[in-house]
Amino acid sequence: MNWITRSCFIAFWGAITSALIAFLANKKQEVLSSPASYILDGSTQRLISHPTRTADTTAIILNWSRFPNVIQIVENLCQQTDDFAECPENRLKITNSVSNLYFQARFFGCAEAETEFCYIQDDDYIVLPEIIRALRVRMRKSTSAIYLLPPHEMLSSELKRIRVGESIHTSFAWLGHGSIMRPGRAQEFLALLKYLNTSDEEMQMADNYYSVLGNVYPEVWFDQGIELGGGIAFTQGVEGEERNNRHIFQAAKYLDTIMTCESPPCTGKSVPFVSFERQAPPSGHRAPCVGFPCLLETTVSLLPATQIDVESTTHMLKIERHHRESLKETDTNDYLLHPPSHAVDGKPETAFCLPRGTFVDPYRIRV
Ligand SMILES: *[C@@H]1O[C@H](CO)[C@@H](O)[C@H](O)[C@H]1NC(C)=O
Ligand SMILES: *[C@@H]1O[C@H](CO)[C@@H](O)[C@H](O)[C@H]1NC(C)=O
Repeated sequence: MNWITRSCFIAFWGAITSALIAFLANKKQEVLSSPASYILDGSTQRLISHPTRTADTTAIILNWSRFPNVIQIVENLCQQTDDFAECPENRLKITNSVSNLYFQARFFGCAEAETEFCYIQDDDYIVLPEIIRALRVRMRKSTSAIYLLPPHEMLSSELKRIRVGESIHTSFAWLGHGSIMRPGRAQEFLALLKYLNTSDEEMQMADNYYSVLGNVYPEVWFDQGIELGGGIAFTQGVEGEERNNRHIFQAAKYLDTIMTCESPPCTGKSVPFVSFERQAPPSGHRAPCVGFPCLLETTVSLLPATQIDVESTTHMLKIERHHRESLKETDTNDYLLHPPSHAVDGKPETAFCLPRGTFVDPYRIRV
């Protein structure tokens, strides 16, 4: 760790390599032998892996309107080739759908995967292989899912965290910036949607339901996503926003119904997918590193404390609005412009800056 003015951090690889290995890397992984100086020498060469073990993660990429991006993403994931068409058949499977299934398609794909994990992302981002590896290593200890989010989405997810009594503790997180789960979770989720008799439109917008209905605070990491662009995303713009909110609200209504057992007649804990375990609100923030599979973790609070107790899950959007109105611009500036991911993005010109006035205990930041 190096100290920059104003409590900002940049992690330099050479100095902390052993700590990185201890924290995240799996003993058998080849990354152990990769050069620690690889970022600092300005080389753009990525970690190339020649997997000798059986793959244990299936990536699911939906092809919608940005095919050139899809080609780039698949080449990046395939790694053994520079040409989409040359990705070996045993590594790439193309499934054509007769109609646009929207977001539910990812859950169908994941539910059918034969690997231990599935990795999901949209077609307007490149997520680096080392970050997918970090997700995968961490996922061994996790039972639900891990989501990568850019700072503005992270803020939105944090401000949507709610608790209703002791039984409901949830928030919302997008899956499209990169997320990982087990096929069993996708199967349970689809079973839940069926149990709830969701409409076709609700099924299509499955992403809006996944994190909320899990009834666990989603594990979210600040992302290192590289935007590929290609037009306004389906979920953006006024219409997209209105649609998102409508479906998040509907997801919240479903969760209330399940947990309060109003209608249908209470079925107790036989409802699939939904967690009935108690959970404390998460503390701390995480960001995966560029160039090397590792994770930066800090328990320093990056926002003023907010009240998360509400009377109903459906207050999620209202409480987020309320929090946003009470936050000053200076409260969120560092969060949005100098997030933890900047400490480990390999760029000396960016840094992770703590909110002004935060007491700094370096032991609360570890890589
Ligand atoms: C992906 O979608 C585009 C339409 O946007 C289509 O032309 C193309 O054939 C699709 N590619 C694959 C591999 O299905
Ligand atoms: C779904 O529909 C079935 C049959 O119409 C009904 O018995 C069941 O109670 C409904 N479930 C929910 C959660 O509304």
